[in-house]
Amino acid sequence: MKHTTQEFPVSPTIARMQSSSTIAAMQAATKMRAEGIDVVDFGAGEPDFDTPAHIKHAAIEAMRNGETKYTPTAGTKAFVKAITDYYKREFDVSIDATEVMGTAGGKQGIFNAVVALACSGDEVLIAKPYWVSFPEMVTFAGATSAFIETEDNDFQLTAEHVARSITPRTKLLIVNSPSNPSGRVIPIDEFCRIIETCAARGVYVISDECYVRIVYPPAEVFSATTLPAELRDYICVSGSFSKTYAMTGWRIGYTIAPQAWTKAMLKIEQHSTSNPCSIAQAAGIEAFTASQDCVAGMLNEYRKRRDWLIPALNDIPGVRCTMPEGAFYAFPDVRGCLKGELKTSGDFADLLLREAQTVVTDGAGFGAEGFVRISYATSLERLQEGVRRIRDVVERFAS
Ligand SMILES: Cc1ncc(COP(=O)(O)O)c(C=O)c1O
Repeated sequence: MKHTTQEFPVSPTIARMQSSSTIAAMQAATKMRAEGIDVVDFGAGEPDFDTPAHIKHAAIEAMRNGETKYTPTAGTKAFVKAITDYYKREFDVSIDATEVMGTAGGKQGIFNAVVALACSGDEVLIAKPYWVSFPEMVTFAGATSAFIETEDNDFQLTAEHVARSITPRTKLLIVNSPSNPSGRVIPIDEFCRIIETCAARGVYVISDECYVRIVYPPAEVFSATTLPAELRDYICVSGSFSKTYAMTGWRIGYTIAPQAWTKAMLKIEQHSTSNPCSIAQAAGIEAFTASQDCVAGMLNEYRKRRDWLIPALNDIPGVRCTMPEGAFYAFPDVRGCLKGELKTSGDFADLLLREAQTVVTDGAGFGAEGFVRISYATSLERLQEGVRRIRDVVERFAS
């Protein structure tokens, strides 16, 4: 039977949301690979490492032991305890079990935190460049994103930026350090000033700490959970196992927030996903309680790649790239390469895809036209191959 081509009456809220540009870049690479093309993929926002074996074994054991049923919405007692113990051990902070909620990845935690707090009439502050999902979550909540320009300070957010941006309608600030896409890490003193500025004006903060363990010295690891109680009253920390332990497919993360905020988020989870996956929780317990050597090993690899990549990018005519202090992204300014028919960083990314079979993500999706994001969660050999291809295209185009 022939289907009618009737237009689907999508809800106005969802119609206002944009599709994810990072997922689009990933899909472009997958499609080209399936066609047998030798793609260099700098689009993926996920570790190229496999999940460490001891974590996989813990999940297998959990399945063997029948840990395959619903769990409490916030997660099993053992999962929540693994999180509070980890923060005690690693950050010397005492977190009450009632402040913890397990989630299907950091993304769900941030989503629930936004939706539990912000609504129509509210403004949510988001610093540019931002992770693509932040504004869309705000749109879903019916609130309005208010973007903070930070290019004047090389994409480093300051308390002064925040103070200037707060209005009587500001409800929430979303802060992400280390940042995806810029890789910038907010220095600890500045981070504290940012939170103090918000708390003094009654503005809540989501601290997205999904890359908290991917920080290159001398930059310092910092978690907002370590702030004094009167500031923590305003903070929801979102944590994730995805990047730290190469567990993106497991969909497991958590939030740490004041009880009232957690309670509201739990309501959303009860009626949407019920609980985080029981098997992924067992894997998360192992990740947080076993030796952290695997984390140090991956960090060391990322650092080596970063140290090779940034000078190599700066060596390409027209490209300028600041040294990222964390995460696994380079965020070069490619405006020096834009001329003739190449008008935008999107055109530049398309050119690389077409002429060099190299996937980078257009910065425009992160609120930074003129930049592209290069993920170095890929082997040094592929990085070298990709940079060689980019340089070739840029030089060919310039001549
Ligand atoms: C800044 C940022 N926050 C949160 C996430 C969510 O990750 P997950 O849901 O896999 O924990 C990502 C993933 O790319 C990210 O880049």
